[in-house]
Parts: sequence; C-alpha cells; structure tokens
Amino acid sequence: MDYQKILNTINDELSYRDVTGKVASYIPELAKVDPRKFGMHVYCGDRQHFSFGDSEELFSIQSISKVFSLSMAMRLMGEDLWDRVDVEPSGDPFNSLSQLEYESGVPRNPFINAGALVISDILVDQLENPKQELLDFVRKITQDNSINFDPKIAASERSTGYRNVALVNYMKALGNIKCDVEPIVDFYFHLCSLAMSCKQLAQAFMIFANKGKILGTDEEILTPTTVKRINSLMQTCGFYDEAGEFSFEVGLPGKSGVGGGIVAIHPDQYSVAVWSPILNEKGNSELGMKALERLTTLTGLSVF
Ligand code: DON
Repeated sequence: MDYQKILNTINDELSYRDVTGKVASYIPELAKVDPRKFGMHVYCGDRQHFSFGDSEELFSIQSISKVFSLSMAMRLMGEDLWDRVDVEPSGDPFNSLSQLEYESGVPRNPFINAGALVISDILVDQLENPKQELLDFVRKITQDNSINFDPKIAASERSTGYRNVALVNYMKALGNIKCDVEPIVDFYFHLCSLAMSCKQLAQAFMIFANKGKILGTDEEILTPTTVKRINSLMQTCGFYDEAGEFSFEVGLPGKSGVGGGIVAIHPDQYSVAVWSPILNEKGNSELGMKALERLTTLTGLSVF
C-alpha cells in the first residue's frame, strides 16, 4: 500500500475553504488557533511513518486525552470500573447534564465529560501525583519525553469550565464522586490541555493497534482485553452524538477533541491522526472526518 501517495491525494483533494463550521470558542484560548492548519500522520505496524502538512505542530488534543485517562483507570481498577461508568453511546452532546439526572449520576460512557470526570475522580483518589503520572504514561506510550500540558489552555478551561464543575457537583450529590471537587477539575482541565502533534498522537495510539504493546517492544502496557474494550468504546462512543456517522463514514475506532484533532486505529495495520481546527456542529473536526473517510475509501480497508 502506497500510504504517502494516498495521503498526498487527500491533501490535494481537501481544503479548509470547503468547510462551513467554526473553530471552538467556548474555551477562549482555543479560538486563537489558525483555522487553516491541516496535517495528517499515519504510523504503520512495520514502523514506517507517512504524513503531510502541519503533522508535527503541537495542538490542544482536548478530549482525545480521555482515552489515556481511561487506560490508566482500567489498569488500576479492572472490571470494577464499570460500576461507576456505563459503556453505552450517549446520543447526547458531550457536556450534557440532563442525561445524568434520569440515570442517577452514572455517566453513559467514559468519553463524555461526565464519564471523564468520574475517571478523573478515580485517578485523583488512587494516585500520589496524578498529573505527573498522566504525563509519565503518555510520554512512555509515545516514547517521547517532550510531551507536556499547555498551561494557557488549562487556565482558559478553568476560567470557563462552569459546566464541568456543575457535572462533578451533581454527581457528588448523587454519590458517584469520592474526592473533593477542586482536585478533580484541576486534573481534568490539565488532562484536556495536553499539547501533542499528529505524529505524537499516532505514536501514542499505536498501542491500541498493537494489542497493548509499544511497537518494537514486548512490554505489555495494556492487556488484550483492555485494548478490546477501549477500541470498542472508541467505535461506539468516540464521537458523542456523531459516533454513528463516524463509524458509517470511516469504519475505524477513533476519538475526537474540540481542538480539531481526531485519532483512529486499524488493528494490526496502522494508527492515524489528523488535525484541522474547524469543527462541525457536533464538535468534531469537519476536515478531519472527511480526511479519514478518504483514507479508508482510498485504501479500501477498514475494520469491516
Ligand atoms: O471539557 C470540555 O468541554 C473540553 N475540555 C473537552 C471537550 C471535547 O474535546 C469534546 N470533544 N469532542
């Protein structure tokens, strides 16, 4: 498969000028990004790299990081985790409060904000230094010690994160939060502020395409069962109320963030990350979705 030729075709076919959405602005710092940014990176199982555009530029990965925090919580809690968070698609916006009320404070899945806040509670409760241990985990699976939080994004999230604070308070009232609200939201805002490039994301997500192992090593970071569960959740819940559309168009497990990044994996084949900051009305990268649809169409390969 000539991945570089396929990526060049995708780059030639798609332009930010053809999209109609807007860059996220409810977190003010995110609105400062150049909407013309566009990059894509494929990392293959034979350790080859292919890319175009702004694939090595750092951006705010936002909710993509919820896959990292879920991985850490599954390593700590195993199957007991599912008493606290469900595994069903939400069919609702990622920051919805209403669903929690009639489902007694148990979030639909770990990728909506409420679910990621319960996961944050678990990590804050069980880890000595959760922010550092998150960085250590992400740096290890990426094999890149330069990865860090973006303090400006974390501060911007804090200054406008009233819905997230409300979600934690509400779940605490309903008995599904153990720690104090402040350290949970502090961890969560930092989690969302991780800055990574498409290349780094593709490297990090290779463990989900490689049965839980860092490519080229025998060290098992996640068990095959954990990888199966996380990939299944990405397939069914990775795009909030657009999970069906992404699955229909692209046919790969993936995860998006409101910074305009999307990652996806093809088990045993490749991991791929794409970044274009302009979002559709569901909060997913408009060009990113199109680019991944072209990738699975032009290669003729998906998980289905
Ligand atoms: O908490 C928030 O609203 C953001 N930090 C993350 C949202 C997000 O990325 C949803 N993804 N598509």
